[in-house]
Amino acid sequence: MPVDMDKIVSLCKRRGFVFQSSEIYGGLGSCWDYGPMGVELKRNVKDAWWKAIVQERNDVVGIDTSIMMHPRVWEASGHVDSFTDPLVECKACHFRWRATEVSDQRCPKCGGELTEPRMFNLMFKTLMGPVEEEASTIYLRPETAQGIFVNFENVVSTSRKKLPLGIAQIGKSFRNEITPGNFVFRTREFEHMELEYFVKQGTDEQWLDYWVKERFDWYIELGIKKENLRLRQHGRNELAHYAKDCYDVEYLFPMGWSELEGIANRGDYDLSQHAKHSGRDLSYYDAESGERYVPYVIEPSAGVDRSFLAFLIDAYDEEEIGGETRTVLHLHPSLAPVTVAVLPLSRNERLTPLAKEVHKQLCQSFMTYYDDSQSIGRRYRRQDETGTPFCVTIDFQSLEDNQVTIRERDSLAQIRVPIEGLAEILQAKLGGEAFDTSPLWATRQP
Ligand code: GAP
Repeated sequence: MPVDMDKIVSLCKRRGFVFQSSEIYGGLGSCWDYGPMGVELKRNVKDAWWKAIVQERNDVVGIDTSIMMHPRVWEASGHVDSFTDPLVECKACHFRWRATEVSDQRCPKCGGELTEPRMFNLMFKTLMGPVEEEASTIYLRPETAQGIFVNFENVVSTSRKKLPLGIAQIGKSFRNEITPGNFVFRTREFEHMELEYFVKQGTDEQWLDYWVKERFDWYIELGIKKENLRLRQHGRNELAHYAKDCYDVEYLFPMGWSELEGIANRGDYDLSQHAKHSGRDLSYYDAESGERYVPYVIEPSAGVDRSFLAFLIDAYDEEEIGGETRTVLHLHPSLAPVTVAVLPLSRNERLTPLAKEVHKQLCQSFMTYYDDSQSIGRRYRRQDETGTPFCVTIDFQSLEDNQVTIRERDSLAQIRVPIEGLAEILQAKLGGEAFDTSPLWATRQP
């Protein structure tokens, strides 16, 4: 059973993962700021995606396109006409709902009568140019995908790659959602991790199957429990205006099964539309077969913030240890905001220089955190709550034998190891080497 969302929100505030935006002014609805721990976890999610999608593959390249684009992009893509949600408004309390959220035609908040549905475009508009009267209306992008499609020709001609070819992008998107909510699950400003994978028509269905499996497995490899993930194929009537077929990877969030990522077959919709509206030939010449065609596109599209939330929820645990409850995040080590905490047993002036030296050695290789305040037990608890896989403790014996204690977050095992080569030992543990609790020094302590 997933944890209560209130517990996650409270942990996020307490430990510096996520704060309400503009909090000192009373907050801005559905906007959130990532604090010192949150920014690290979020960056690690993006790095893990980029590594799997771009770095470890030979058939995908990256791109970083601008948020503001020519307004005709959104006419061609169909977003001006079709990126809409049906909206209803309560005649009594004036609260607005997506029509799909309301089952019995009464306001879920006050029971008041609702208006007839009208289509509401989710794109944010703004004006570009210094003089308002002359400025042209532009949109904040609601997906990063269009920046990829309009650069297809540029990337193909400069990357010297053949199809199948993927172009990947991570960046901010904006949607004027009617009902944002559930913390960072649905917000008006969020980050996308999108891959547009260009293939030959006829191979698209195979590639869709391939990417559905790849993306599902990515979450499992990064520690999400299999029983909390499932796949759901879209029904014909819920497909986006560009999609031929689509699967959602769903996660069992506290509010129930909800979309984590969509993997769509966009057909040749986008390239054909941009070719038509721009007058540019966006077909691809296949030198091997001598054919020219408009590629089909398979699109795995994930939300950074939603993945962040799923990883946090899945890692959250409360354990009974020695009659006390410990809150711990069992985050995958490559996602944890801090990899190693360096903790001198106390602030004693004899310990500080050695502890600082150990910290200096480790911070070259890992995200580290130096903490010498309060009791060692409380410091361990703090690290558990932010998911730090390893704590390195420097005590008075370290001054004699040049050894330190490594404490492992999940097993609570402690081993004593030499300071020389400490980084290599930790690296091996992060790489999956078992935490050997057999030596004389190994103990299991809360
Ligand atoms: N380019 C395709 C596309 O944008 P989508 O299903 O609308 O598809 C993909 O969005 C993913 O982006 C979602 O599965 C979700 O993780 C994330 N996402 C979409 N809207 C969001 C919002 N308002 N707040 C946070 N994440 C959102």
